[in-house]
Amino acid sequence: MPRTGTGSGSTGDERFVSPEQREVSAFTTKRPDSLEAFVGQEGPVANIRVMLTAAQKRGAALEHILFAGPPGLGKTTLANIIARELGVNLTSTTGPLLERPGDLLAILTSLHERQVFFIDEIHRLNRAVEETLYSAMEQYKVDVIIGKGPGAKTIPLNLSPFTLIGATTRSGLLTAPLRDRFGAMFHLSFYAPEELAQIIGRKALEHDIKISDECLLSIARKSRGTPRVALRLFKRVWDFAVVAGDTEVTTKLAEESLERLGISDEGLDEMDRRILMLILKNFNGGPVGISTIAAVLNEERDTIEDVYEPYLMKAGFLEKTSRGRCVTQKAYDYFKVPYTPDRFNPGPSVPLFEESESGSGEDA
Ligand SMILES: Nc1ncnc2c1ncn2[C@@H]1O[C@H](COP(=O)(O)OP(=O)(O)OP(=O)(O)O)[C@@H](O)[C@H]1O
Ligand SMILES: [Mg+2]
Repeated sequence: MPRTGTGSGSTGDERFVSPEQREVSAFTTKRPDSLEAFVGQEGPVANIRVMLTAAQKRGAALEHILFAGPPGLGKTTLANIIARELGVNLTSTTGPLLERPGDLLAILTSLHERQVFFIDEIHRLNRAVEETLYSAMEQYKVDVIIGKGPGAKTIPLNLSPFTLIGATTRSGLLTAPLRDRFGAMFHLSFYAPEELAQIIGRKALEHDIKISDECLLSIARKSRGTPRVALRLFKRVWDFAVVAGDTEVTTKLAEESLERLGISDEGLDEMDRRILMLILKNFNGGPVGISTIAAVLNEERDTIEDVYEPYLMKAGFLEKTSRGRCVTQKAYDYFKVPYTPDRFNPGPSVPLFEESESGSGEDA
Protein backbone atom coordinates (compact mmCIF):
# COMPACT_ATOMS: atom_id res chain seq x y z
CA MET A 1 0.00 0.00 0.00
CA PRO A 2 1.50 3.35 -0.97
CA ARG A 3 2.11 5.99 1.63
CA THR A 4 -0.18 8.94 1.15
CA GLY A 5 -1.09 12.05 3.02
CA THR A 6 -4.65 13.29 3.09
CA GLY A 7 -6.17 16.55 4.19
CA SER A 8 -7.01 19.93 2.83
CA GLY A 9 -3.93 22.10 2.98
CA SER A 10 -1.65 19.46 4.49
CA THR A 11 1.90 20.53 3.71
CA GLY A 12 3.39 17.08 3.34
CA ASP A 13 6.64 18.29 4.90
CA GLU A 14 5.25 17.77 8.40
CA ARG A 15 4.45 14.09 7.98
CA PHE A 16 7.54 12.62 9.54
CA VAL A 17 8.28 15.33 12.08
CA SER A 18 8.15 14.62 15.80
CA PRO A 19 6.38 17.10 18.13
CA GLU A 20 9.69 18.53 19.44
CA GLN A 21 10.95 19.08 15.94
CA ARG A 22 7.66 20.58 14.90
CA GLU A 23 8.08 23.54 17.20
CA VAL A 24 11.46 24.37 15.68
CA SER A 25 10.45 23.77 12.09
CA ALA A 26 7.04 25.49 12.32
CA PHE A 27 8.87 28.55 11.08
CA THR A 28 9.36 27.19 7.60
CA THR A 29 6.59 24.66 7.12
CA LYS A 30 3.54 26.93 7.28
CA ARG A 31 2.66 27.62 3.68
CA PRO A 32 0.49 30.34 2.18
CA ASP A 33 -3.04 28.92 2.11
CA SER A 34 -4.79 30.97 -0.57
CA LEU A 35 -3.97 32.24 -4.05
CA GLU A 36 -4.22 35.72 -2.54
CA ALA A 37 -1.38 34.99 -0.14
CA PHE A 38 0.79 33.35 -2.80
CA VAL A 39 3.47 35.78 -3.96
CA GLY A 40 4.69 35.93 -7.59
CA GLN A 41 4.16 33.53 -10.53
CA GLU A 42 1.53 35.96 -11.84
CA GLY A 43 1.02 34.14 -15.17
CA PRO A 44 0.26 30.71 -13.71
CA VAL A 45 -1.75 32.19 -10.83
CA ALA A 46 -3.98 34.22 -13.19
CA ASN A 47 -4.61 31.14 -15.31
CA ILE A 48 -5.36 29.00 -12.27
CA ARG A 49 -7.93 31.60 -11.14
CA VAL A 50 -9.71 31.35 -14.49
CA MET A 51 -9.65 27.56 -14.41
CA LEU A 52 -11.01 27.48 -10.86
CA THR A 53 -13.85 29.86 -11.68
CA ALA A 54 -14.73 27.99 -14.87
CA ALA A 55 -14.80 24.63 -13.09
CA GLN A 56 -16.95 26.03 -10.31
CA LYS A 57 -19.41 27.61 -12.77
CA ARG A 58 -19.66 24.37 -14.73
CA GLY A 59 -20.03 22.40 -11.55
CA ALA A 60 -17.36 20.04 -12.89
CA ALA A 61 -14.03 18.76 -11.60
CA LEU A 62 -11.11 21.08 -12.28
CA GLU A 63 -8.98 19.99 -15.22
CA HIS A 64 -5.76 18.11 -14.51
CA ILE A 65 -2.79 20.41 -13.90
CA LEU A 66 0.94 19.84 -14.20
CA PHE A 67 3.46 22.02 -12.36
CA ALA A 68 7.04 21.94 -13.57
CA GLY A 69 10.08 23.74 -12.27
CA PRO A 70 13.14 23.55 -10.02
CA PRO A 71 12.72 22.53 -6.35
CA GLY A 72 11.37 24.99 -3.81
CA LEU A 73 9.43 27.29 -6.17
CA GLY A 74 5.98 26.42 -4.84
CA LYS A 75 4.61 23.42 -6.77
CA THR A 76 3.39 21.56 -3.68
CA THR A 77 2.18 24.82 -2.18
CA LEU A 78 0.05 25.59 -5.24
CA ALA A 79 -1.44 22.08 -5.26
CA ASN A 80 -2.50 22.55 -1.63
CA ILE A 81 -3.88 26.01 -2.35
CA ILE A 82 -5.96 24.70 -5.27
CA ALA A 83 -7.51 21.99 -3.08
CA ARG A 84 -8.29 24.59 -0.45
CA GLU A 85 -9.82 27.00 -2.98
CA LEU A 86 -11.99 24.15 -4.29
CA GLY A 87 -12.96 23.25 -0.73
CA VAL A 88 -11.92 19.63 -1.23
CA ASN A 89 -9.40 17.26 0.32
CA LEU A 90 -6.01 16.62 -1.17
CA THR A 91 -4.59 13.12 -1.31
CA SER A 92 -0.91 13.12 -2.04
CA THR A 93 1.73 10.62 -2.99
CA THR A 94 4.94 10.59 -5.00
CA GLY A 95 5.77 8.76 -8.23
CA PRO A 96 8.23 6.20 -6.85
CA LEU A 97 5.83 5.15 -4.07
CA LEU A 98 3.33 3.85 -6.63
CA GLU A 99 5.07 0.59 -7.37
CA ARG A 100 2.23 -1.37 -8.98
CA PRO A 101 -1.02 -0.42 -10.78
CA GLY A 102 -2.83 -1.81 -7.72
CA ASP A 103 -1.26 0.90 -5.54
CA LEU A 104 -2.68 3.54 -7.86
CA LEU A 105 -6.09 1.84 -8.09
CA ALA A 106 -6.38 1.78 -4.32
CA ILE A 107 -6.05 5.56 -4.24
CA LEU A 108 -8.14 6.29 -7.34
CA THR A 109 -11.09 4.26 -6.14
CA SER A 110 -11.04 6.04 -2.78
CA LEU A 111 -11.23 9.56 -4.27
CA HIS A 112 -14.40 11.55 -3.76
CA GLU A 113 -15.98 13.69 -6.44
CA ARG A 114 -13.84 16.71 -7.43
CA GLN A 115 -11.14 15.76 -4.98
CA VAL A 116 -7.53 16.68 -5.73
CA PHE A 117 -5.02 13.86 -6.17
CA PHE A 118 -1.45 15.16 -6.05
CA ILE A 119 1.43 13.11 -7.47
CA ASP A 120 4.84 14.61 -6.72
CA GLU A 121 7.82 13.56 -8.88
CA ILE A 122 5.37 12.36 -11.50
CA HIS A 123 8.23 11.83 -13.96
CA ARG A 124 9.28 8.86 -11.80
CA LEU A 125 6.13 6.77 -12.32
CA ASN A 126 6.79 3.34 -13.73
CA ARG A 127 5.30 2.42 -17.07
CA ALA A 128 2.52 0.10 -15.91
CA VAL A 129 1.30 2.63 -13.33
CA GLU A 130 1.49 5.44 -15.86
CA GLU A 131 -0.59 3.49 -18.36
CA THR A 132 -3.26 2.86 -15.73
CA LEU A 133 -3.36 6.58 -15.14
CA TYR A 134 -4.15 7.39 -18.78
CA SER A 135 -7.76 6.19 -18.84
CA ALA A 136 -8.30 7.37 -15.27
CA MET A 137 -7.35 10.89 -16.32
CA GLU A 138 -9.15 10.86 -19.64
CA GLN A 139 -12.40 9.06 -18.92
CA TYR A 140 -12.42 8.60 -15.13
CA LYS A 141 -12.35 4.88 -15.80
CA VAL A 142 -9.95 2.07 -15.01
CA ASP A 143 -9.80 -1.58 -15.99
CA VAL A 144 -9.32 -3.94 -13.10
CA ILE A 145 -7.85 -7.30 -14.09
CA ILE A 146 -8.90 -10.20 -11.90
CA GLY A 147 -7.04 -13.50 -12.09
CA LYS A 148 -4.14 -14.53 -14.30
CA GLY A 149 -3.58 -16.21 -17.67
CA PRO A 150 -6.42 -17.21 -20.03
CA GLY A 151 -9.01 -17.13 -17.26
CA ALA A 152 -8.25 -13.50 -16.33
CA LYS A 153 -11.19 -11.12 -16.43
CA THR A 154 -11.17 -7.41 -17.09
CA ILE A 155 -13.72 -5.43 -15.16
CA PRO A 156 -14.20 -1.77 -16.11
CA LEU A 157 -14.64 0.46 -13.10
CA ASN A 158 -15.98 4.02 -13.04
CA LEU A 159 -14.22 6.56 -10.86
CA SER A 160 -15.51 9.78 -9.37
CA PRO A 161 -14.44 12.76 -11.47
CA PHE A 162 -11.26 14.03 -9.79
CA THR A 163 -8.43 16.44 -10.47
CA LEU A 164 -4.91 15.17 -10.85
CA ILE A 165 -2.17 17.62 -10.02
CA GLY A 166 1.28 16.46 -11.02
CA ALA A 167 4.55 18.09 -10.01
CA THR A 168 7.90 17.54 -11.63
CA THR A 169 11.35 19.05 -11.51
CA ARG A 170 12.08 17.46 -14.90
CA SER A 171 9.30 18.03 -17.40
CA GLY A 172 11.65 16.78 -20.14
CA LEU A 173 11.42 13.28 -18.68
CA LEU A 174 7.64 13.12 -18.93
CA THR A 175 6.25 10.97 -21.73
CA ALA A 176 4.15 12.73 -24.38
CA PRO A 177 0.98 10.68 -23.69
CA LEU A 178 1.05 11.65 -20.02
CA ARG A 179 1.85 15.30 -20.69
CA ASP A 180 -0.99 15.52 -23.23
CA ARG A 181 -3.56 14.41 -20.69
CA PHE A 182 -3.11 17.50 -18.55
CA GLY A 183 -5.50 20.36 -19.26
CA ALA A 184 -2.79 22.86 -18.33
CA MET A 185 0.92 22.80 -17.71
CA PHE A 186 2.60 25.60 -15.78
CA HIS A 187 6.34 26.15 -15.68
CA LEU A 188 7.21 27.95 -12.46
CA SER A 189 10.11 30.34 -12.85
CA PHE A 190 12.65 31.76 -10.42
CA TYR A 191 11.39 34.66 -8.30
CA ALA A 192 12.58 38.27 -8.46
CA PRO A 193 14.44 39.52 -5.34
CA GLU A 194 11.52 41.88 -4.57
CA GLU A 195 9.10 38.94 -4.51
CA LEU A 196 11.37 36.92 -2.26
CA ALA A 197 11.76 39.95 0.02
CA GLN A 198 7.96 40.08 0.28
CA ILE A 199 7.81 36.38 1.16
CA ILE A 200 10.42 36.74 3.92
CA GLY A 201 8.83 40.01 5.04
CA ARG A 202 5.55 38.21 5.66
CA LYS A 203 7.35 35.52 7.62
CA ALA A 204 9.07 38.19 9.72
CA LEU A 205 5.71 39.83 10.41
CA GLU A 206 4.20 36.49 11.40
CA HIS A 207 6.97 36.03 13.97
CA ASP A 208 7.15 39.67 15.07
CA ILE A 209 10.73 40.03 13.87
CA LYS A 210 11.99 43.54 13.24
CA ILE A 211 13.78 43.78 9.91
CA SER A 212 14.26 46.61 7.38
CA ASP A 213 13.29 46.45 3.68
CA GLU A 214 16.95 46.86 2.78
CA CYS A 215 17.86 43.83 4.86
CA LEU A 216 15.01 41.75 3.38
CA LEU A 217 16.26 42.58 -0.09
CA SER A 218 19.83 41.76 0.80
CA ILE A 219 18.81 38.26 1.94
CA ALA A 220 16.48 37.88 -1.06
CA ARG A 221 19.28 38.65 -3.53
CA LYS A 222 21.29 35.72 -2.20
CA SER A 223 18.41 33.26 -2.32
CA ARG A 224 18.85 31.76 -5.79
CA GLY A 225 15.42 33.04 -6.85
CA THR A 226 13.86 30.37 -4.64
CA PRO A 227 11.36 30.89 -1.77
CA ARG A 228 12.55 27.77 0.07
CA VAL A 229 16.13 29.07 0.06
CA ALA A 230 15.02 32.59 1.03
CA LEU A 231 13.06 31.27 4.01
CA ARG A 232 15.96 29.05 5.05
CA LEU A 233 18.53 31.85 4.89
CA PHE A 234 16.21 34.18 6.78
CA LYS A 235 15.85 31.56 9.49
CA ARG A 236 19.63 31.19 9.74
CA VAL A 237 20.11 34.96 9.93
CA TRP A 238 17.46 35.17 12.61
CA ASP A 239 19.34 32.46 14.55
CA PHE A 240 22.45 34.63 14.47
CA ALA A 241 20.40 37.61 15.74
CA VAL A 242 18.93 35.56 18.58
CA VAL A 243 22.37 34.27 19.61
CA ALA A 244 23.78 37.81 19.50
CA GLY A 245 20.86 38.97 21.67
CA ASP A 246 19.75 41.48 19.00
CA THR A 247 16.14 42.59 18.86
CA GLU A 248 16.38 43.60 15.22
CA VAL A 249 17.85 41.86 12.17
CA THR A 250 20.15 44.44 10.57
CA THR A 251 21.67 44.37 7.08
CA LYS A 252 25.13 44.21 8.62
CA LEU A 253 24.22 41.19 10.72
CA ALA A 254 22.50 39.52 7.73
CA GLU A 255 25.51 40.00 5.50
CA GLU A 256 27.95 38.78 8.13
CA SER A 257 25.82 35.72 8.89
CA LEU A 258 25.44 34.76 5.24
CA GLU A 259 29.15 35.16 4.71
CA ARG A 260 29.80 32.84 7.64
CA LEU A 261 27.43 30.35 6.05
CA GLY A 262 29.49 30.44 2.85
CA ILE A 263 26.84 32.19 0.73
CA SER A 264 28.41 34.54 -1.79
CA ASP A 265 27.06 37.85 -3.11
CA GLU A 266 25.54 36.10 -6.10
CA GLY A 267 23.83 33.62 -3.78
CA LEU A 268 26.16 30.83 -4.85
CA ASP A 269 26.82 28.21 -2.22
CA GLU A 270 29.71 25.81 -1.75
CA MET A 271 28.42 23.22 -4.24
CA ASP A 272 27.67 25.82 -6.94
CA ARG A 273 31.24 27.03 -6.66
CA ARG A 274 32.65 23.50 -6.75
CA ILE A 275 30.74 22.74 -9.97
CA LEU A 276 31.88 25.94 -11.67
CA MET A 277 35.45 25.61 -10.42
CA LEU A 278 35.66 22.01 -11.65
CA ILE A 279 34.61 22.93 -15.18
CA LEU A 280 36.72 26.04 -15.17
CA LYS A 281 39.96 24.61 -13.81
CA ASN A 282 39.92 20.89 -14.66
CA PHE A 283 38.15 21.11 -18.00
CA ASN A 284 39.37 24.40 -19.33
CA GLY A 285 35.88 25.93 -19.12
CA GLY A 286 34.16 22.95 -20.79
CA PRO A 287 32.47 21.36 -22.57
CA VAL A 288 32.18 18.51 -20.10
CA GLY A 289 29.40 15.93 -19.66
CA ILE A 290 27.08 15.85 -16.66
CA SER A 291 28.04 12.29 -15.69
CA THR A 292 31.68 13.29 -15.47
CA ILE A 293 30.84 16.29 -13.28
CA ALA A 294 28.71 14.08 -11.02
CA ALA A 295 31.39 11.40 -10.74
CA VAL A 296 34.22 13.79 -9.97
CA LEU A 297 32.19 15.71 -7.38
CA ASN A 298 30.76 12.50 -5.93
CA GLU A 299 27.25 13.92 -6.16
CA GLU A 300 24.05 12.46 -7.67
CA ARG A 301 23.64 13.46 -11.29
CA ASP A 302 19.92 14.17 -10.72
CA THR A 303 20.73 16.53 -7.86
CA ILE A 304 23.15 18.49 -10.01
CA GLU A 305 20.64 18.67 -12.85
CA ASP A 306 17.58 19.51 -10.71
CA VAL A 307 18.98 21.66 -7.94
CA TYR A 308 22.19 23.34 -9.06
CA GLU A 309 22.20 23.72 -12.83
CA PRO A 310 18.88 25.53 -13.33
CA TYR A 311 20.00 28.44 -11.15
CA LEU A 312 23.57 28.50 -12.47
CA MET A 313 22.15 28.78 -15.99
CA LYS A 314 19.54 31.35 -15.03
CA ALA A 315 22.20 33.46 -13.30
CA GLY A 316 24.39 33.23 -16.40
CA PHE A 317 27.30 31.19 -15.01
CA LEU A 318 26.73 28.01 -16.98
CA GLU A 319 25.61 26.99 -20.46
CA LYS A 320 24.44 23.68 -21.89
CA THR A 321 25.81 23.01 -25.36
CA SER A 322 25.41 20.00 -27.62
CA ARG A 323 28.83 18.81 -26.42
CA GLY A 324 28.36 19.34 -22.69
CA ARG A 325 28.39 21.97 -19.98
CA CYS A 326 30.52 25.12 -20.35
CA VAL A 327 31.09 27.96 -17.91
CA THR A 328 30.60 31.51 -19.15
CA GLN A 329 32.70 34.65 -19.06
CA LYS A 330 30.73 35.61 -15.93
CA ALA A 331 32.13 32.55 -14.12
CA TYR A 332 35.68 33.50 -15.09
CA ASP A 333 35.07 37.02 -13.80
CA TYR A 334 33.52 35.69 -10.60
CA PHE A 335 36.57 33.57 -9.81
CA LYS A 336 38.92 36.26 -11.15
CA VAL A 337 40.47 33.82 -13.60
CA PRO A 338 41.62 35.16 -17.02
CA TYR A 339 39.18 34.12 -19.77
CA THR A 340 41.09 31.71 -22.04
CA PRO A 341 38.89 28.75 -23.01
CA ASP A 342 39.31 27.19 -26.43
CA ARG A 343 36.04 25.41 -27.09
CA PHE A 344 37.28 23.89 -30.38
CA ASN A 345 40.19 22.24 -28.66
CA PRO A 346 38.65 20.31 -25.81
CA GLY A 347 42.06 19.47 -24.31
CA PRO A 348 41.54 17.86 -20.91
CA SER A 349 37.76 18.02 -21.27
CA VAL A 350 37.47 14.58 -22.90
CA PRO A 351 34.95 12.78 -20.66
CA LEU A 352 36.53 10.57 -18.05
CA PHE A 353 33.48 8.31 -18.05
CA GLU A 354 31.04 7.06 -20.65
CA GLU A 355 28.20 9.53 -20.82
CA SER A 356 24.82 7.81 -20.63
CA GLU A 357 22.37 10.49 -21.57
CA SER A 358 19.45 8.22 -22.35
CA GLY A 359 16.00 9.25 -21.37
CA SER A 360 16.80 12.80 -20.48
CA GLY A 361 16.03 14.55 -23.77
CA GLU A 362 17.15 17.89 -22.31
CA ASP A 363 20.71 16.79 -21.90
CA ALA A 364 24.05 17.39 -23.43
N1 LIG B 1 4.98 32.05 -3.83
C1 LIG B 1 5.23 31.74 -2.59
N2 LIG B 1 4.85 32.54 -1.57
C2 LIG B 1 5.16 32.22 -0.30
N3 LIG B 1 5.84 31.11 0.08
C3 LIG B 1 6.21 30.28 -0.88
C4 LIG B 1 5.94 30.52 -2.25
N4 LIG B 1 6.43 29.52 -3.00
C5 LIG B 1 7.00 28.68 -2.14
N5 LIG B 1 6.89 29.12 -0.88
C6 LIG B 1 7.43 28.47 0.31
O1 LIG B 1 8.64 27.83 -0.08
C7 LIG B 1 8.73 26.52 0.43
C8 LIG B 1 8.90 25.54 -0.71
O2 LIG B 1 7.73 25.48 -1.49
P1 LIG B 1 7.18 24.08 -2.09
O3 LIG B 1 7.43 22.99 -1.12
O4 LIG B 1 5.77 24.31 -2.52
O5 LIG B 1 8.12 23.90 -3.35
P2 LIG B 1 8.12 22.75 -4.44
O6 LIG B 1 8.14 23.43 -5.77
O7 LIG B 1 7.02 21.79 -4.18
O8 LIG B 1 9.54 22.04 -4.18
P3 LIG B 1 9.98 20.51 -4.50
O9 LIG B 1 10.22 20.42 -5.98
O10 LIG B 1 11.26 20.37 -3.73
O11 LIG B 1 8.90 19.60 -4.02
C9 LIG B 1 7.48 26.31 1.27
O12 LIG B 1 7.82 26.52 2.62
C10 LIG B 1 6.51 27.37 0.80
O13 LIG B 1 5.72 27.82 1.85
MG1 LIG C 1 7.07 19.80 -3.56
